[in-house]
Amino acid sequence: MPLVSMSEFLPHAKANKYAVGQFNMNNLEFTQAIIDASIEENSPVIFGVSEGAMRYMGLDYTVAMAKVAAERASVPVALHLDHGSSFEVVMKCIQAGFSSVMFDGSHYPLEENIRLTKKVVEAAHAVGVSVEGELGTIGGVEDDLNVADEDAKIAKPDEAIRFWKETGVDAMAIAVGTAHGMYKAEPKIHFDVIDEVARNIDVPVVLHGGSGVPDEDIIKAISLGVGKINVNTENQVAMTKVIREVLAAKQDVIDPRKYIGPARDAIKETVRGKIRLFGSNNRF
Ligand code: 13P
Repeated sequence: MPLVSMSEFLPHAKANKYAVGQFNMNNLEFTQAIIDASIEENSPVIFGVSEGAMRYMGLDYTVAMAKVAAERASVPVALHLDHGSSFEVVMKCIQAGFSSVMFDGSHYPLEENIRLTKKVVEAAHAVGVSVEGELGTIGGVEDDLNVADEDAKIAKPDEAIRFWKETGVDAMAIAVGTAHGMYKAEPKIHFDVIDEVARNIDVPVVLHGGSGVPDEDIIKAISLGVGKINVNTENQVAMTKVIREVLAAKQDVIDPRKYIGPARDAIKETVRGKIRLFGSNNRF
């Protein structure tokens, strides 16, 4: 199928209490691993692309790889900009073929975040592209984003509800205590915030920083209205672990396929595990 907007599947996820995984693509092997797991599990899927990953892969390669992957699948596949930093970047991605974008205006004051996100929603919706907005400040490190623990701010439910009403975003990322990257200590998730926001908006809440969150917390978050969960670090860890193991065991290996191939399999199994945990398998 061609790439589709997240509106093709997120309403179904929220209504049926499961979450669709956003798995970040960082190279060809991530792309293959993510799509193969999704096809085998009959699960909708979202390719997330950070601006850093886009610089690494090249915008044209990124779109081409995602399109080829989606064409292989009969499940819905979205190509989604992760943490888009400006209107210009969002427009560049839409023009290049992205089917979904996130505009992250969370570092702006509320009014300005609403104004800028609304502008993105108007432009994106005009061409059938879905939009994710963000409120509060998610901690941790992801590419260009680096937020110290003390600067992470939990979203205020009344502000999040107002943000959704005024912008019309299709998915609402709110900071609820998760962080990008691996956790030093178990995250303390503010389930009350998820609950209050999810009950008062029509679209799913998005949980960023899905790596390392205990399974029972993920299940509870989904039961309260989280319909999209982002995972990147766990796939990176799975890939790198296998590469280290293969290279340590076989000092004479020089063919990259000999270590990147098994690493790709490891990403695929990690994605499969998340798909089953999120309950998005056998939905399409
Ligand atoms: P993790 O790398 O912690 O899984 O977070 C991914 C993410 O939230 C992408 O936006």
